[in-house]
Amino acid sequence: MYSIALALAGLFFRPAATALQKRAADFFDPALGGGSIFDNATFGGEPMNVIISGLSSPDVLTDDGVLNFVRAIGFSTECLGLHLGNPQSANLGDGDGLVNQTIGLREDFGSSALGTCLESAIGGNHLRVFRQNGPQADSGALFLAVSKEQPASKHHDIVPDGYNVGRDDLVSRAVGTKGFGGIFYDIQARNITGLMPAGSDGINHGIGVDGIVTLLTVTIQSTDGASS
Ligand SMILES: *[C@@H]1O[C@H](CO)[C@@H](O)[C@H](O)[C@H]1NC(C)=O
Ligand SMILES: *[C@@H]1O[C@H](CO)[C@@H](O)[C@H](O)[C@H]1NC(C)=O
Ligand SMILES: *[C@@H]1O[C@H](CO)[C@@H](O)[C@H](O)[C@H]1NC(C)=O
Repeated sequence: MYSIALALAGLFFRPAATALQKRAADFFDPALGGGSIFDNATFGGEPMNVIISGLSSPDVLTDDGVLNFVRAIGFSTECLGLHLGNPQSANLGDGDGLVNQTIGLREDFGSSALGTCLESAIGGNHLRVFRQNGPQADSGALFLAVSKEQPASKHHDIVPDGYNVGRDDLVSRAVGTKGFGGIFYDIQARNITGLMPAGSDGINHGIGVDGIVTLLTVTIQSTDGASS
């Protein structure tokens, strides 16, 4: 009788775990796996306010793929030798616990590494990328913490309302058809509520968020094979 109860308990709990392992999902709510939609920064968390869907073209979700995609929408890698800010970590509820950001990217004002250095001096959009690919929630989705910052002279603090503004800036530049390095993307956006609480509780610099997370589905339309 006792062993039957244990077996039943096992049956009861296991489906929940395997349900999380389902592939081909937009993303999984980090909170369901003990994670958070806020990352782990020096002073509180930053909101991961944009998600690149796990249903995007698989090539978009790789390190090289997301780098090319963000270049297509006006970002570049951080200025060489002028790395600003500490790496942050996040728990995406996928069973991997706290993981470091994959890459940090700043807005590219020009077409070269110099553009990024310039941006570091005059302020702009900043994003960090985290990948949800642990064994318990392997969506492959990329969670982006996007913010609008002050110029470097002001130590890269977030501007007032900088999380909402950063998200909306990025999304407005992303939607539609964009291309870089011979790869063209179709980008669809959808707002999601209920994933992130609105307000400023526990958030870096106490800057409030409206609680909206924008889901981007990025589909490669064509590649001209010219370069990568
Ligand atoms: C950051 O992670 C530590 C555990 O390593 C945890 O104690 C702390 O609450 C986290 N901070 C935030 C803001 O999530
Ligand atoms: C995250 O990065 C910090 C600083 O580079 C490093 O000390 C730490 O070991 C890294 N954590 C993980 C889980 O990779
Ligand atoms: C998402 O919400 C923001 C803030 O309210 C809004 O500016 C934006 O247009 C919305 N985007 C979509 C795709 O609904």
